[in-house]
Amino acid sequence: METPLTENIAPDRTPLDLRGYEAKGGYAALRQALEMGPAAVQQVVKDSNLRGRGGAGFPTGMKWSFVPMGETARRPKYFVVNADEMEPGTMKDRWLMEGDPHSLVEGAILCAYAIEAEHAYIFLRQAYELCAERIGRAIAEAYEACYLGLNIQDTGYNLDLHLHVSAGRYMCGEESGLLDALEGGRAIPRAKPPFPQTAGLWGMPTVVQNVETVCNVRHIVAKGPEWFKGLSLTEDGGTKLYGASGKVRRPGLWELPMGTTLGEILSEHAGGMIEGHKFRGCLPGGASTSFMTEDHLDVAMDFTSPPKVGSRLGTGTMIVLDDKTCPVGMMLNVEQFFARESCGFCTPCREGLPWVMRTLEAIEMGRGKPSDMDILDHHVAMIRPGHTFCALAPGAIDPLDSALRYFREDFERHITEGGCPWR
Ligand SMILES: Cc1cc2nc3c(=O)[nH]c(=O)nc-3n(C[C@H](O)[C@H](O)[C@H](O)COP(=O)(O)O)c2cc1C
Ligand code: SF4
Repeated sequence: METPLTENIAPDRTPLDLRGYEAKGGYAALRQALEMGPAAVQQVVKDSNLRGRGGAGFPTGMKWSFVPMGETARRPKYFVVNADEMEPGTMKDRWLMEGDPHSLVEGAILCAYAIEAEHAYIFLRQAYELCAERIGRAIAEAYEACYLGLNIQDTGYNLDLHLHVSAGRYMCGEESGLLDALEGGRAIPRAKPPFPQTAGLWGMPTVVQNVETVCNVRHIVAKGPEWFKGLSLTEDGGTKLYGASGKVRRPGLWELPMGTTLGEILSEHAGGMIEGHKFRGCLPGGASTSFMTEDHLDVAMDFTSPPKVGSRLGTGTMIVLDDKTCPVGMMLNVEQFFARESCGFCTPCREGLPWVMRTLEAIEMGRGKPSDMDILDHHVAMIRPGHTFCALAPGAIDPLDSALRYFREDFERHITEGGCPWR
């Protein structure tokens, strides 16, 4: 089984320096791309079926094709790596950045080149101090070796790459909020259209792409789209970083073929449940996805299959719920996070999420009333895509919606028994 994304990552995640990275074939894809030209790089990425790994799964090549190209395009153009990674339960991008920072730097240069951008940013989560140190060093080495700066590798292509450390809000991960934050403002989502590809950073053409997406690009350029598609078990190309946390024997992160089933990830790679704990379900792609249960263990974890059972691949990093953990307490924890991270711009999210949080708190603490179930149901029905300005609030409500579907009797028991049965 090939594991291109993690092949350079040592068990202790000590990264390769520039010479070590080059000795393993690093920056060869960039040299190759500079000979191919931007249009050809865009085409191989389009042909590879690479879909964005930040959660939404938008086809990467198609996103690039919306960027105005050529002499008449408005400039400067920008490429931005979304390394904000504040999704609860998710640590896949940190793994890549700590363990193989040059891979991200080379990927960012390739993506910027494909859209003819002259400036690129890596927008990094504030808490990721080790990543900042290692990426900063990799960028400096890349400048010294003329992979960045003016006249890269004597081709006439110029690119500056800046590391920007976020002020630290979940909302900064939403791509248009991220652009506000990069401009020095408060992270509030922008109305779309126009999309960032035509009017993004400072109103100029911009592409925002997740770390894992970017790290795939050098392998696609070097080995071709057919090779990339062949790595996957389903239609979505490539491998995927999957993770699991909770009461499993081996919590961690694994690079596996895209489309590996939920059951294989949990039993073979996470080692199954810890003795004495039974699997009840999991949030499969970070906290903002809907529960999958024992009935879904044979579902292929790609962008197409989980929606057929009412969930999403999301980030591919699972938070497992066991029978010794209270689902109401778990949902309270999740909604506390999202209520705190609301940017406050639209009413259903600013007012609704704290109301949900207070209702869950009352139920968990034994102060719940039967009418509280109606309050939760009402919010689940109202906080939907199209009712809020961005995807934060619908993402916050999806796990609760599914918890009420699969574990409703546990919520009701809290109310009838006047407290949490797990305490
Ligand atoms: C509230 C919110 C937070 C997000 N946080 C992240 C994040 O931390 N990292 C990320 O790559 N995408 C995040 N996204 C998705 C981005 O808006 C965007 O779709 C993504 O960066 C595009 O890159 P991709 O096509 O490579 O996936 C978030 C979306 C929302 C609504
Ligand atoms: S849903 Fe509305 S209030 Fe919530 S984060 Fe998005 S824009 Fe802000």
